[in-house]
Amino acid sequence: MADGQISPRKAINLADYTPPVFLVDEVALDFTLDPAATIVRATLNLRRQAPGPLALDGRDLELLSIKLNGEALGGNRYVLTESSLTLDDVPDVFTLETEVKIIPETNTELSGLYMSGTGFFTQCEPEGFRKITFFPDRPDVMARYKVTLRADQSKYPVLLSNGNNTASGAAGTQIWATWEDPHPKPSYLFALVAADLVAVKDSFTTASGREVALGIWVAAGDETRCGHAMYALKNAMKWDEDTFGLEYDLDIFNIAAVSDFNAGAMENKGLNIFNTAYVLASPATATDADFQGVERVIAHEYFHNWTGDRVTCRDWFQLSLKEGLTVFRDQEYMADQFSAAVKRISDVRSLRATQFRDDAGPLAHPVRPASYLEINNFYTTTIYEKGAEVVRMYRTLIGREAFRKGMDIYIAENDNSAATVEDFFAAMQAATAIDLKQIMRWYEQAGTPEVSFDESHDPAAQTYTLTLRQHTAPTPGQPVKQPFMIPVAMGLLDATGRDIHTETLILAQPEQSFTFHNISEPPTPSLFRNFSAPVKLQGQSRQRLAFLAAKDTDLFNRWDAMQQYATLVLLDAVKAHQAGQAFALDAGLLEAVTATLRDAARDPAFAAEALLLPAETLLADAMSIVDPDAIRFVREAARKALGETLREDFFAAYAQFAAVAASDVSGHAIASRALKNAALGYLSAAGDTTLAGAQFLSGENMTDTLAALVNVAELADERRDDAFASFYDQWRANALVLDKWFSVQARAGAPDTLARVQALTKHKDFDLRNPNRVRALIGAFAANPSKFHEASGAGYQLLADTIFTLDETNPQIAARLTTAMGSWRRYDTARQSLMKAQLERILAKEKLSPNTYEMASKALA
Ligand code: ARG
Ligand code: ZN
Repeated sequence: MADGQISPRKAINLADYTPPVFLVDEVALDFTLDPAATIVRATLNLRRQAPGPLALDGRDLELLSIKLNGEALGGNRYVLTESSLTLDDVPDVFTLETEVKIIPETNTELSGLYMSGTGFFTQCEPEGFRKITFFPDRPDVMARYKVTLRADQSKYPVLLSNGNNTASGAAGTQIWATWEDPHPKPSYLFALVAADLVAVKDSFTTASGREVALGIWVAAGDETRCGHAMYALKNAMKWDEDTFGLEYDLDIFNIAAVSDFNAGAMENKGLNIFNTAYVLASPATATDADFQGVERVIAHEYFHNWTGDRVTCRDWFQLSLKEGLTVFRDQEYMADQFSAAVKRISDVRSLRATQFRDDAGPLAHPVRPASYLEINNFYTTTIYEKGAEVVRMYRTLIGREAFRKGMDIYIAENDNSAATVEDFFAAMQAATAIDLKQIMRWYEQAGTPEVSFDESHDPAAQTYTLTLRQHTAPTPGQPVKQPFMIPVAMGLLDATGRDIHTETLILAQPEQSFTFHNISEPPTPSLFRNFSAPVKLQGQSRQRLAFLAAKDTDLFNRWDAMQQYATLVLLDAVKAHQAGQAFALDAGLLEAVTATLRDAARDPAFAAEALLLPAETLLADAMSIVDPDAIRFVREAARKALGETLREDFFAAYAQFAAVAASDVSGHAIASRALKNAALGYLSAAGDTTLAGAQFLSGENMTDTLAALVNVAELADERRDDAFASFYDQWRANALVLDKWFSVQARAGAPDTLARVQALTKHKDFDLRNPNRVRALIGAFAANPSKFHEASGAGYQLLADTIFTLDETNPQIAARLTTAMGSWRRYDTARQSLMKAQLERILAKEKLSPNTYEMASKALA
């Protein structure tokens, strides 16, 4: 450890969990809000549960006074440290009053109470509340809150907190408002907003006839871009009633949008706080993907009201209990809005690109980790997306009806309490006769299982036997894996592509054989339909993949077969390129793309997904030593060859799907634009850039404008520079659109990308204090495989420089960026040592945050 480094935090272990010594039944908070000196008075009604002292969490708090049952306490009655306030000698039931001073304007971590623009906002999950007042800041302490906010009326006319607004008033230039939340909640769900905002209002009538007042609070001028968020909110409220029988439980539901936010959004009870990126959308400023992002996140946070707020987590090791389940719920919601298959395809695409990669590297961790240094580092795709896959596997294993019954039991048994993964398991087990015990391994063991198969057909006996094997490679701290319980949704196809048998098998042992009867001809198995388990299926021949890509009745597997086929073909082309051979387009790939394109009208959304070649990162994952330059070269060569060979077809598709109104964001319009812009991508790759240029100029729809800009960004000449200059001039005042301007440049494959990103870090609109802007430039660049991994190492240096500076103001975001170097061992020795050197440099930094320390040290371990 370098001199001067603060000692890294001690590991917190799941095995060490003990119930709280004191519970808090009620808490009253009184805020006098001032950016430079906010005074927080807290009154806690405490009740003993176990012997021991009262230990409260507290960080960056200046204690002004403390009273026990109304009596002021001297300094000899408590012990104050950097992170706690401990009282040794206290009664079993008592009232504690504290008064602290905090400084929101210097809170750059964006955790706790902070300023964004001119307003006050909070983010308390997971451990921000301890930066607001002394409290047992752990999710298994659930209290009823009464909150009074006082602020200068001219600057902060809107005062919001959780629950119902029970009283308000004015006193001179100050206004005040009291909010009471009747539902007990953990401290991480506390929220307040004091700002100059305007509301878009609406209402929703619940199934039982209660009227709920809805408000979306945004900066003046942004009201016109809230329509989709409000639509999504009402739609999600209805969906949860229809699908899970879950009704909203307060008379008011507010959403406040903030432009400086570490995450996407937060499910605070009755007062969700959202990154503006997931609220504001209009066809002129937001892409179709942004619209879908708004809808997904609005639904996600709303669904947390039951899976998160009413039923919360006992401790942070159980984070996936609420996040995995709520992601599953938002996935199901979105699948019901558009095409279920296309939704599944895009979810699996991103699971493979992010979670599978993490699971294969030094940062791999189970869905329920056993230990952490900094819980903020565990808001990962494993906790969220793999956690959702685990919930989905429960449903696949026990069926829809039993799953719904299990959900009812889960909610009923755990309402108003802090639950564990075991509680969810118990509810599902109570709903089915199938023994689910082994499913718990998905929570305990990290890593992506690899499944391989053997088959044999016996024409005399008319039997077909399928032998499945599972193997999971070691992950940090877990050298040996026990077999998982893997649902294998499958079908057997005859030679014409017809399903002759479908079933969901359960693979629970290292190797298992399944025999099917009355099978006269050797069938083609279609395994893991609709991606029934988060595994890697190995050993499919190209011939099989080509057949399934053309014939499978399962749309997901048809897409997947084409992706796997393309992956094999491109990996071979990478080898050939490395051996100095010229690129040659595979005839089977050409045939599959041609068939997809000519059939596109039947399901354009599906065709648009099927036309996309596997991402560079996916190809990288399949190589033992990643060669980012060869991957980029080959993938681009394939796109160019396909574009040239199928030029007429792509032009025809472009024309066929172009007739959609700029303002139309219906499923049909989104699908048409996706197909049209997929065609544009191939035509541009083939050198036909006039079309992209024209589309860029005519754009009134951000999806089209951006799709054009992405292609123009590849041209390293004045056509590109003019396009970016004009885009900047048009959109400089719109932060979310300007984020796109940064990120398209950072993602470009043009040879000068690295130099441009270096220059953009000095641009006057680049701001390290704004997480969206950091993600748009630095996050996007770190996800640009061939440019970030440029052989000189200058990309690594740029990232490390950013982490170095950012760690001092926002360690959460700095730690997150560090993960981009987590896969350093997968590269050639030259790149390995360059990345390693940067990680070591970060680790040697004085006063490195525990957040970044944990990620850098684990990456190097
Ligand atoms: N619970 C929030 C959600 O809905 C996210 C909170 C993110 N917090 C964090 N420290 N990254 O997913
Ligand atoms: Zn969530």
